[in-house]
Amino acid sequence: MREINASIGFDKRLWREDIAASLAHVAMLEAQGIVSEEDESAIAEGLERIQDEYALKGVKEDPALEDIHMHVEARLAELIGPAAGRLHTARSRNDQVATDFRLWVRNAIDEVEAALAAFQRVLVARAEEHAETVMPGFTHLQAAQPVTLGHHLMAYYEMLLRDRSRFADARRRLNESPLGAAALAGTSFPIDREATAAALGFDRPMANSLDAVSDRDFALDYLAAATLCALHLSRLAEELIIWASQPFGFVALPDDFSTGSSIMPQKRNPDAAELVRGHSGRIAGAMVSLVMVMKGLPLAYSKDMQDDKPPVFEAHDLLVLSLQALAGMVEKTDFNAARMSDAAEAGFSTATDLADWLVSRAGMPFREAHHLVGRIVQLAEEKGCGLADLDLDSLRAIDARIDERVYELLNVNASVRSRTSYGGTAPEGVRERIAAAKKALGEA
Ligand code: ARG
Repeated sequence: MREINASIGFDKRLWREDIAASLAHVAMLEAQGIVSEEDESAIAEGLERIQDEYALKGVKEDPALEDIHMHVEARLAELIGPAAGRLHTARSRNDQVATDFRLWVRNAIDEVEAALAAFQRVLVARAEEHAETVMPGFTHLQAAQPVTLGHHLMAYYEMLLRDRSRFADARRRLNESPLGAAALAGTSFPIDREATAAALGFDRPMANSLDAVSDRDFALDYLAAATLCALHLSRLAEELIIWASQPFGFVALPDDFSTGSSIMPQKRNPDAAELVRGHSGRIAGAMVSLVMVMKGLPLAYSKDMQDDKPPVFEAHDLLVLSLQALAGMVEKTDFNAARMSDAAEAGFSTATDLADWLVSRAGMPFREAHHLVGRIVQLAEEKGCGLADLDLDSLRAIDARIDERVYELLNVNASVRSRTSYGGTAPEGVRERIAAAKKALGEA
């Protein structure tokens, strides 16, 4: 029983929050005349001492005590005697754990928020550096149209911006205090829930005691945001893995973020990116895990809910680590601009530009232009050259309306410069967005 019942092995991570909530609670009990001033100061001093002990040496686990709440209370009794027993007046471990966990998740969100902003700064800096670097843009992982690397990196800036807003949203919703809901029904003591809520930085007390002790939607909000964020990271990780492969050669991974093989001396493996990709699966798994734990639980508290914490702790650790590792990789990766631009040329990625030109210059219907360019691409394939390498006579043999101006647009640089529609890949547009991003990140 002791083994299956215990949560101390993982919920000791809540010790800071547990002590903070107890300090707020006991101050309120004293202010409301529920606990004497003398007992309050003994309890508060004892709690602060425990805080110092834990900060110094960690939580010393006692297998006889189930969880962090009982550990703190038992240690308090050792330190100050029977007065320790007054701390638990007008509360229960049910509102206590809900309060502690909300505080913990709130801190976790702040930590992720900082890591996301740091990563965005890296993306924006690299994007600015490569605002003019041309690479193939892909659909179906087939070269589609040339884009700039700056534009590509800024796509991730936008994804992370939405991630930040999801975390901010989760934080706003979770910031209400369960403390004082007691076991499930509230309490007959004249407590002041507004006061404890304010002391702990919550916006207000939760309005329904049953809801306060029994929902974990705040943790699921966190996990849902973490999952979406991890999916974004995983896609970038995958791209780095592909780009670092020899056939691509778009990037040389930094030594700091790659590993060698024990038997193949030439290898430089993208382990960090692969682990980010793998971790995203575990983070999504953590979300599903808590969804399944919560499904179908009757109100109010059930012990199943003790299993809420491991998935959140795991997801959070993996997410922060992934953000840091990927930011480090992007910061230090060497982008091979020549190789990227060659790949854009080789993939006939200016074929759409040619079709568009035939439409606007020669007044051709787009479908006809599309067909014609298909023949031109075939010719280039037969000759084993790029579109810009075809001579004018061969082009004119396919359609006489083509003239030498066509070479200006078969060039990948000209192609990206022409994509000036809002949100498009033209360097000037991308630079504008970079400037706005820097401002939003407090850098300009
Ligand atoms: N260790 C428990 C948890 O994490 C604390 C709450 C216990 N409450 C109870 N009624 N047994 O959920």
